Amino acid sequence: MSAALLEPLTLKGVTLPNRIVISPMQQYMAGRDGLARDWHFVHLAKMAVGGAGLVFTEALAIEPDARVTYHDLGIWSDDHLEGLKRLAGGIADHGAVPATQLIHAGRKASVAPPYHGFEPLSEKDEAERGEKPWPVVAASALEANPGWPVPRALSRDEIKRLLERFAECTKRARKAGFRVLDMHGAHGYLIHSFLSPLSNTRDDEYGGDLAGRMRFALEVADAVRSEWPAELPFFYRLSCIDDAEGGWTLDDSVALSRELAAHGVDVIDCSSGGLGRRTTPLIIPREPGYQVPFAARIRAEAKVPTMAVGLIMDPHHANEIVESGQADLIAIGREALNNPNWGVQAQVALKGTDAYETEWPKSYAWWLHRRAKALEASAAKRQ
Ligand SMILES: Cc1cc2nc3c(=O)[nH]c(=O)nc-3n(C[C@H](O)[C@H](O)[C@H](O)COP(=O)(O)O)c2cc1C
Repeated sequence: MSAALLEPLTLKGVTLPNRIVISPMQQYMAGRDGLARDWHFVHLAKMAVGGAGLVFTEALAIEPDARVTYHDLGIWSDDHLEGLKRLAGGIADHGAVPATQLIHAGRKASVAPPYHGFEPLSEKDEAERGEKPWPVVAASALEANPGWPVPRALSRDEIKRLLERFAECTKRARKAGFRVLDMHGAHGYLIHSFLSPLSNTRDDEYGGDLAGRMRFALEVADAVRSEWPAELPFFYRLSCIDDAEGGWTLDDSVALSRELAAHGVDVIDCSSGGLGRRTTPLIIPREPGYQVPFAARIRAEAKVPTMAVGLIMDPHHANEIVESGQADLIAIGREALNNPNWGVQAQVALKGTDAYETEWPKSYAWWLHRRAKALEASAAKRQ
């Protein structure tokens, strides 16, 4: 039985073995230096063993102040290269294409990790763990949430310097061996703060109308493309809508996606929300596949491949999204934390028990195939 989810996909010079993607997920497990550790290697290698075709590392910060927390991975210096090479190599050695994402967290930087509350760092964090808050920057001096730090609006010179940083970090991502790069333009981080009229009140060329608010996102795309080889795919994550009245809309995302494609972006990675308080589903209730309609509309109207993400957990549902032409790729986040073998289990769900033999890592396949056959026989006997 053929299943669209399990078909290879060629993007530029890279062929993904299937359409299953591990979404970028911060682990909050790096030291202050932003260096990768064994945790990151094990976490990502097991996702590749588990059958995903494309495995993203967590977002890599382009400078220390661009981190969400003190425990995020970085790519701001050559010191990061050795650890990142190990992550890219670990993913590739276990059968998936290695991918990474770049981030500047903007006004949502300087936060405590989720296991310490996921709120802006305060004097308490400094006293308890030595985690001193740092000043945050954004498009405009507007805080993400009431009581959060008010960011400093970036000057034109600072914007120019950050574009150089994005280019420099792209070069490092290439040196580390990643073959797909995603830009984090979503979830209220720096790029998103330029896009949304709720967070960008600038009166220079980086604000005002849609073209002005899109300028920084497009300049970042150009900076990446200047260093990312033409044969390697470039993804761009967008919050396709703000979960807020008067914010960024799906029409805006369609317009931006068209422009991004013209600036060398190959896939729009369709997320949503996050401009302000986390998980405030004001407009879109959180149901399986809640962001798929965004991927479908951008794919249809901007004529650019899309990646769908958000509570996609059932392989049949994932397959149906690809088969019906709503998205080209399916990214799995929390379900992969819950079940890193989601990819190979999707092979069995969509192809039947014999897929254990052909699609599973060979050291597991023999045993699990026989166990599945025994269970089938036992169930048949009971009927
Ligand atoms: C632990 C965790 C860390 C995350 N870190 C990132 C990240 O680094 N970059 C990003 O774009 N999204 C990040 N996300 C969002 C996920 O990539 C994904 O879009 C979201 O979890 C929705 O998909 P899901 O319902 O399959 O989990 C993170 C999500 C989780 C659960």
